[in-house]
Amino acid sequence: MMAESKGEEPRASGAGRGEKVQSWGKNVLVEFEDGIAWVSLNRPEKRNAMNPALNDEMVRVLDALETDARCGVMVLTGTGDSFTAGMDLREFFRDTDSVPHVERMRAYRSASEWHWRRLLQYYKPTIAMVNGWCFGGGFTPMIACDVAVAADDAVFGVSEINWGIIPGGNVSKVLSLVMNQRKALYYIMTGETFTGKQAAEMGVVTESVPRAKLRERTTQVAKILLGKNPTALRQAKVAFKFMPDMTWESSSDFLTAKIDQMKFIDTEQGRATAMAQFLDDKTFRPGLETFRRKDAPKNPKE
Ligand code: COA
Repeated sequence: MMAESKGEEPRASGAGRGEKVQSWGKNVLVEFEDGIAWVSLNRPEKRNAMNPALNDEMVRVLDALETDARCGVMVLTGTGDSFTAGMDLREFFRDTDSVPHVERMRAYRSASEWHWRRLLQYYKPTIAMVNGWCFGGGFTPMIACDVAVAADDAVFGVSEINWGIIPGGNVSKVLSLVMNQRKALYYIMTGETFTGKQAAEMGVVTESVPRAKLRERTTQVAKILLGKNPTALRQAKVAFKFMPDMTWESSSDFLTAKIDQMKFIDTEQGRATAMAQFLDDKTFRPGLETFRRKDAPKNPKE
C-alpha cells in the first residue's frame, strides 16, 4: 500500500492497523509492507534534493512512524534513481540567504531535527537503502541510520568543496564516525565521487549489492531485525552510539544500567524466555540463531 500525502493538512495514509500515521505535504512517500515502512524522499525531478518543506515533512513522518504499529523497521530511500542530491541549493541555501535570520535558523533546525537528532536515537531500527545519487547533506541521515545498504553503482560525493563551501550540516561529523581520516579528507578536499561498492569497502555503508538485488537484500535485513526483541535492539543501538563520547568508567556503568533497565521496559521479558529455551528446553543456541518470540516472522532470513 502506498501512501502519498497531498497537502499541508495531516492526512491518514490508508488502511491497516496504524490509523495514526499521516503525512504532510507531497515530498515524502510512506509505503507499509509486512512490518517495514518504506520512506521515500520524493522530489525525483530535483533528484530528491532536500528543501525546507521536505525537511519539515520528514520530521513529522518520523514522529508518526515511531508510534505506528505498521512500522517495525524504517527504511529510508529515494524515489527514482536518486537517494538524494543533498541540500536544495536554491530553496535551502540561496532562498534562505535573504530571509530574516530566525527563519533561516528554523530551516536549518528542521534539517538537523531529522537528519541526526531524530535518526541517531530513533526508537525503531533504521536502514538507509541508497538507490542512487547521494551527495553532501545526504550523508548525514544516511550515516545516522543504523544500517546502510547501497546499490553497487550508486554514486556518492562529498561535493561541498566543488561549490565553494565545507561539509556542514554535520556531514563532517558523521563522516568522522565511519571513515578513516585519510579517506575522509581525500573526498572532502577533492570532491571526487565514489561508488556504492567503494562506500562498502570504506565502511561508509554496511554493504553494497547489485542494483537488481537492492530491495530484496534490504527486505532481508529488515526481516532479520523484525525477528529480534525490539527493546533489546533499541537498547543496543542507543548504547553503542553513545560509546565514542564516554570514558571507560562511565561506559561500563552506563551499559550495566542499560541492561538493568531492560528488566523494567522489556514487555516481552525476552532474556528470561531465551535463557529458558537454551538452558532448560535446549531448543535453541544463542550463538547461531534468535530465540523464538511470539510475534516474530516464522523464518526471518527469508
Ligand atoms: N539542489 C537544487 N536543485 C538540484 C539539486 C540540488 N542539490 N540537485 C539537482 N537539482 C535539480 C537541478 O537544478 C535540476 O533542476 P531543473 O530541472 O529545474 O533544471 C534537476 O534537479 C535535475 O538536475 P540535473 O543536474 O539536470 O540532473 P543530472 O541527473 O544530470 O545530475 C546530479 C544529477 C545529482 C549529479 C546533479 O544534479 C548535481 O550535481 N546536483 C547537486 C549535487 C550536490 O552537490 N549536492 C550537494 C548539496 S549539499
